[in-house]
Amino acid sequence: MTHETPTLVYGGDYNPDQWPRETWDEDIRLMRQAHVNRVTVGVFSWSSIEPREGEYDVEWLDIIMDKLADAGIGVVLATPTASPPPWFTLAHPEALPVRADGVRLVHGSRDTYNPAAPAYREAALRVADMLAKRYAHHPALRMWHVHNEYGTVSYGPVTDEAFRGWLRERYGTLDALNAAWWTAFWSQGYGAWEEILAPQATQYLPNPGQVLDFKRFSADVLRDALREQVAVVRAANPAIPVTTNFMLPTWHHYDEWDLAAEIDEVSIDHYPSARDVEGEVHTAFGADLARSFNGGRPWTLMEQATSTVYDYAAGRIYAKAPGVLERQTLQYVARGSTGSLFFQWRNGRGGAELFHSPMVPHTGPDSRVFREIVDLGATLARLGELAEPPADGGPVNRNRVAFVWDSTAWWSAETRAMPTTDLSFLDAVRATHRALWWEGIGADAVRLGDDLSRYDVVLVPSKLAVSDTEAAALTRFVEAGGTAVTWYFAGSTDEHLRVRPGSFSGAFADLLGIRVEELFPLAPDETVALDDGTVGDCWSQTVHLRGAEALVRFRGGHLDGVPAVTRHAVGDGVAYHVGTRLDPAALRRLLADVVAAAGVERHHPQAGDGLEVVRRHAGDRTYLVVVNHDDAPRELTLTGHDLLGGRDLDGPVTVPPGGHLVVREVAR
Ligand code: GLA
Repeated sequence: MTHETPTLVYGGDYNPDQWPRETWDEDIRLMRQAHVNRVTVGVFSWSSIEPREGEYDVEWLDIIMDKLADAGIGVVLATPTASPPPWFTLAHPEALPVRADGVRLVHGSRDTYNPAAPAYREAALRVADMLAKRYAHHPALRMWHVHNEYGTVSYGPVTDEAFRGWLRERYGTLDALNAAWWTAFWSQGYGAWEEILAPQATQYLPNPGQVLDFKRFSADVLRDALREQVAVVRAANPAIPVTTNFMLPTWHHYDEWDLAAEIDEVSIDHYPSARDVEGEVHTAFGADLARSFNGGRPWTLMEQATSTVYDYAAGRIYAKAPGVLERQTLQYVARGSTGSLFFQWRNGRGGAELFHSPMVPHTGPDSRVFREIVDLGATLARLGELAEPPADGGPVNRNRVAFVWDSTAWWSAETRAMPTTDLSFLDAVRATHRALWWEGIGADAVRLGDDLSRYDVVLVPSKLAVSDTEAAALTRFVEAGGTAVTWYFAGSTDEHLRVRPGSFSGAFADLLGIRVEELFPLAPDETVALDDGTVGDCWSQTVHLRGAEALVRFRGGHLDGVPAVTRHAVGDGVAYHVGTRLDPAALRRLLADVVAAAGVERHHPQAGDGLEVVRRHAGDRTYLVVVNHDDAPRELTLTGHDLLGGRDLDGPVTVPPGGHLVVREVAR
């Protein structure tokens, strides 16, 4: 172990500027009672910090930083730039966000700015610089939290100009741009850069190449905004790590890999709202992404909810049942989180999110939620040794299976030119991850450009646009002995969304040993029978074998006997293709077979079917985090020290429904 005792972080967003000062001492007393050691201050406090343009009021922040330092509570200090104050709207109307339909938005919520607008960027940098200089050496400061959940997209004149600049850099000439966007179609040929606009609302279908590039541009704008602020806070004290919190969303406006490259540590906000075990499956997914974005190293869970979460789509809030909080928190810790922070410490009596659950609820500390918070703080305090980074510099979880997470893939599926609207990238990736979770197999997210040699199996659930370089990377991986699985439509186009001629297996045609001649997307209620007795939906296609073998074939109808799942031996490896959307059980069976054939082992041989067992590496030790999500007691064999139960284990252990253990394994 290192000389400093490792500790897991515990706490949440703390907004003292919303409360009278009498509350502050009570807050700190309750924080200590709950084992809180880290709070995130100032996330949306711009109007408290800079009530008028250029005039700062930081007395309250000075006082609270000192109080927290005295209490031994570390601070993650945020730059408040996600929420410009009302004065900003009046002073800089050109910097307000414009929707695709041309409507300009004004303050009244949060995130009301165009991230490409110079006036916004300057105002944001100014306040960040002031905070950096004032607090960079404050004894409470542990980390910078730049902005909050980047994700704003804006159209309008300011954006048009910035978009043109970005396109000039990318393409150099108008000829190259016209070719990439195939602008001869529908008379879209551009003769001057000034003619190009961001793809605002237009008469009918927009140009998919233009839409895809606009999404890339918008993501780069957010990355640049982050980069500027990171430079400012780093300049003030390079020893303080910098993060920005990713919202793992149902929308997607930036590239997590690119943003991760700008910061020292990835953090995520995560709000699974499913009420059954699907909530736990989602928890595992978010944590696996966070760890992967952070290069396998420990990462910060910046926000989760203690209980009620807004589900805006459903128009209601959902509360977590007793015990869920601890169970889900251990899932994050198992997958490398440095602990758990929450949104938020105490919830405001008013404001837009007044019913979102905090650590200290409206009803006060005499509440089920606060009691669980105190207990969870005590639990994490006993698991401090897991916080140590692995001594060998390797990842916290050692997975041999990877799935491709790729922004271009997400964005391509969102352009309106697709053969079916049923091609959601997130749904496809989640279905794959879910199947692995039920099978008890750990997985990392990767890009095709990453070093794939660390993996035995690489899954490509949904990736329409594939560049030659990416196709070559996957081919090299298979030739060297890897196993790849691609799904329908993957590689059909190049990176500009231009269809690859000859076969809809396009970029992967040789690797897969198939020619996909024709696409038959299915209607929402349509299924297609398969000769293993299952059915597919969403997609079917005509496939000709060109070296591959058919594992499953379509049965009946005009595709009777056509290969649906294929396998192709290439070099020392194998490439599979799946030509329809398998039902969850069939997908799970297929992946179990693929993974077993590739020799991949579970973190524990008895994991799966809702018994989650994840091995975390820390120092020169390993830990098994065991959570039973099943309704029935589950038995597994464990050898080591049960950190929460304080006992040695060597043999079968029964874990009750909802039960969990953290076991320090003995050296093997
Ligand atoms: C996000 C934000 C928080 C809060 C929570 C809860 O993740 O970062 O400020 O709005 O969601 O809705």
